[in-house]
Amino acid sequence: MASLLEVKNLTTHFFTQEGVVRAVDGISYSVEEGEVIGIVGESGCGKSVGAMSIMRLVASPPGRIVGGEVLFEGEDLVQANDERLRDIRGNGISMVFQEPMTSLNPVLTVGRQLTETLELHMNMDKRESRIKAISLLEMVGIPDSETRIDDYPHQFSGGMRQRVMIAMALSCDPKLIIADEPTTALDVTIQAQILELMQNLSRKLGTALIVITHNLGVVARYADRVIVMYAGKIVETASSVEIYKNPLHPYTSGLLNSVPRLDADDNERVRLEAIEGSPPNLGNRPGGCGFQSNCPQSFPECESTEPILVEVEKDHWVSYCGHCHESYGCKWFPRDP
Ligand SMILES: Nc1ncnc2c1ncn2[C@@H]1O[C@H](COP(=O)(O)OP(=O)(O)O)[C@@H](O)[C@H]1O
Ligand SMILES: [Mg+2]
Repeated sequence: MASLLEVKNLTTHFFTQEGVVRAVDGISYSVEEGEVIGIVGESGCGKSVGAMSIMRLVASPPGRIVGGEVLFEGEDLVQANDERLRDIRGNGISMVFQEPMTSLNPVLTVGRQLTETLELHMNMDKRESRIKAISLLEMVGIPDSETRIDDYPHQFSGGMRQRVMIAMALSCDPKLIIADEPTTALDVTIQAQILELMQNLSRKLGTALIVITHNLGVVARYADRVIVMYAGKIVETASSVEIYKNPLHPYTSGLLNSVPRLDADDNERVRLEAIEGSPPNLGNRPGGCGFQSNCPQSFPECESTEPILVEVEKDHWVSYCGHCHESYGCKWFPRDP
């Protein structure tokens, strides 16, 4: 059966005065119905632009999807017209953003924000939509939802506001929810609770979920599969279990070795200890392997050879540069692909 979402060679660039920023540089992956996917990588590697491209929400200009396809239930959203996109955003795919305070309207009650979407997209009347809104709040773990529904966003804590955002995302029965750093602004205990809630809801309702984060440790617990991004490209993808057990790309190992633990305060983005150098400037990228300047083992060929994703074990793909393997027996890719 076809996948729910199939992203094929998606390429999104920004055309700025300083030059072309290759924010998303040919990424391909698929999401099955009900599956939970984690997309991981440091700030600036193209996670958000990749997600916004799916929904066609990248500001244009300066951004433009210059290539690829986003097949949602077989339909290419890159080619869809505005009306069709509004439809999909209202019914097929929902997004949850990092900062709920900016996505919730401060002058409307939480209930009104929920009932408004329900009336608009689900054709419910006032009574039906209120009942549904209360049950949605209950579903996301808001206690006393019958009374809390009439509160304003500022009367909720940060974690509770994020729960409200999830309720809003669920209100149109989407097939896919994309959550972009949904927990980054929250303290670590609440982060875990929110991710667990989303995982449970996904299992219960059969909604597929893409969780974007810079914290591999947190997401690997809740995702079925992890996609690791670096400099606008996918460098490794495998099941969460496999990524934990057998990370093959040096960048993935670096992320794992420096994963801030759940009990540590990682609200500040930690520049990962095991990964030396800085993330490449996507506007002025050298040719060849994007990871060359940070790789513990790089060769002259790294400047000329563009790595490709190779399936080294079943469903385990890694960005692989034949040169290091064949000529030098690179320690990162010791086996024959
Ligand atoms: N409006 C924009 N104009 C120019 N460059 C942009 C714009 N938005 C994002 N970028 C660039 O795209 C790259 C990817 O950004 P983003 O997807 O937001 O990273 P992430 O979500 O992984 O932190 C970054 O290098 C960023 O500077
Ligand atoms: Mg982002």
